Formats: sequence, C-alpha cells, structure tokens
Amino acid sequence: MGKTSEQPLLSCRNVTKKFGSLVAVGDLSFDLAAGEVLGIGGPNGAGKTTLFEMISGQTTVTSGQILLDGRDVTRDSAVRRCHAGMARVFQLNTGFDSLSVRDNIRVAAYYGRRNRIMPGLGFSAEVETAVDDALERVGLVGRGRQSAATLTVIDRKLLMIAGALAMQPKLLLLDEPVGGLTHREIDQVAKVVAEVAASGVTVVLIEHVMRFLVQLSTRVMILHHGRKLYEGSATGLAHDPGVVEVYLGKEAGRDVAAMAAGKAEGMVRHAF
Ligand SMILES: Nc1ncnc2c1ncn2[C@@H]1O[C@H](COP(=O)(O)OP(=O)(O)OP(=O)(O)O)[C@@H](O)[C@H]1O
Ligand SMILES: [Mg+2]
Repeated sequence: MGKTSEQPLLSCRNVTKKFGSLVAVGDLSFDLAAGEVLGIGGPNGAGKTTLFEMISGQTTVTSGQILLDGRDVTRDSAVRRCHAGMARVFQLNTGFDSLSVRDNIRVAAYYGRRNRIMPGLGFSAEVETAVDDALERVGLVGRGRQSAATLTVIDRKLLMIAGALAMQPKLLLLDEPVGGLTHREIDQVAKVVAEVAASGVTVVLIEHVMRFLVQLSTRVMILHHGRKLYEGSATGLAHDPGVVEVYLGKEAGRDVAAMAAGKAEGMVRHAF
C-alpha cells in the first residue's frame, strides 16, 4: 500500500468504546493530516481521555478502526504504536519520583527506541542525544540531575512532555497539559508546544483552558457524551449555538470569539 501525500497521519473510523451500557465514545470518525494541531474540548466525562486511550493502545476499542499512516493499528500494543511514532502525555502526572529528571527522560527515550535488542547494556549515545534534545525543547537544560520529586507542578508537566519528545514521535498526544497552571505558566507550555508543532510534529491536545486550545489549534473538535458536537475552526466554535449552550456558556463564548479574532491578527499572546 503506497503512501500518498493526501493520506492522513491518523484516522479514527467509527471508533466506539463502551463500559457496560455507558457509551464513553460513540461512532467517532475523524482524520488528522500531518502537521495539524487538533484541539479537543468538551465537558467532563465527554470521552476525551478514553479516545486517547484507544488511539494510543492503552485500551481496546469496542468497535471501529484506528489507522496510523494508513496502517491499521487497532489491534497493536501500546509499545508497538509508540515505536510506530505515537507518544502520549497523560492527564495525571506520571514519572518516577525516585529518579532524576534526566533518568526519567532516559527511561522514556529507551522505551521509545525502535530496536531494543539488548536491554541492560546501558544507554546508547542515541538515547543521550534524544534526552539532551528533549531537555532543551522544554527548557529544562541544566536541571537533569535534579530529583523529579522536587519539581514544581509546571516543571513536572514539562518533564512529562520531555519524556514524550524523547521518543521522537511524529504524533504527540497531550491530555490537559496546562490544567492547574497560572497564566504565565500556560504561556510557557504554549510556547513549547508551538515550537514542537513548528518542528513538524503533529499534535492532538485535550484542554479545558480555551485560551490554550484556541491559540494552538489549527482545528478544534468538541466532544459531548462521546460524540462530535463540533469540528472546525476556533472562530466557528464561538458562534456554534450547540457548543455555547453545552460547553462554553455565553460569556466564555464571547471570550473565545475575541481570542479567535485576536489569533487571526496574531495578537493572542499580548491580548490575553
Ligand atoms: N475504565 C472505565 N470504566 C468505566 N467507565 C469509565 C472508564 N473510563 C472512563 N469511564 C467513563 O467514561 C466516560 C468518559 O470518561 P473520560 O475520562 O474519557 O472523560 P473526559 O472527557 O476525559 O473527562 P475529563 O474532562 O473529566 O478528563 C465517563 O463517564 C467516565 O466515567
Ligand atoms: Mg480526561
């Protein structure tokens, strides 16, 4: 099967996840082109994290198909999908408190390596280079020896992103990367993600912080009860009556409209 330029990097086709009688994600289909930043929003329990679980292979689909680069990965293990180019940052902080910042990223880089033929032989130069690159991309250079247990909330989030980057993914899945951060910290993470996207990594991010979602996304998808409530531009989002009613509310809808307009003028970072 030849790869064409129109072939999506990721395709979800009629993906469904049921937990007993609860349909967490229902018959959801969308394509993602290489280079896009897809922002996913929606109320608590909408099925956003469950969608990531299915894409990254942490859980099975009840039905439907997931394709990466045109290849059906629906039945592949999480590690296989990782080696095929997917990396995921979890909603809750993961990471090893007993390890240094550098060792945390090393573990991720090692896990993400395609050819782990002889484990136990120590870390290769390739891993060390990937770790250095990841530390630099998130702005944690010089912090490698620090214990992960002593990191602040923002630095932990950056560490998690660094671990994913050290896997050198083509598709990066970020689940609420700025939850609980201050405005200034949100801007810091936004800058990191924008630079990652600019370097050619395709990004899917889940986020409730609309400023972050609008600022970074080339396309937005809003889920509600496991189904697509909206898919399109950030500008259209603010004017969609369903989204305003179910998710944003009138006041936040006006804010999002202003943000989207500001983004079009390249003003978001200064205006909010
Ligand atoms: N392992 C599970 N077993 C049973 N139900 C689950 C499981 N995981 C998720 N659910 C349910 O599926 C629905 C979707 O949950 P999910 O975590 O995907 O939502 P979310 O959109 O990520 O929400 P939030 O914004 O709060 O993170 C919820 O009703 C949740 O309770
Ligand atoms: Mg979630």
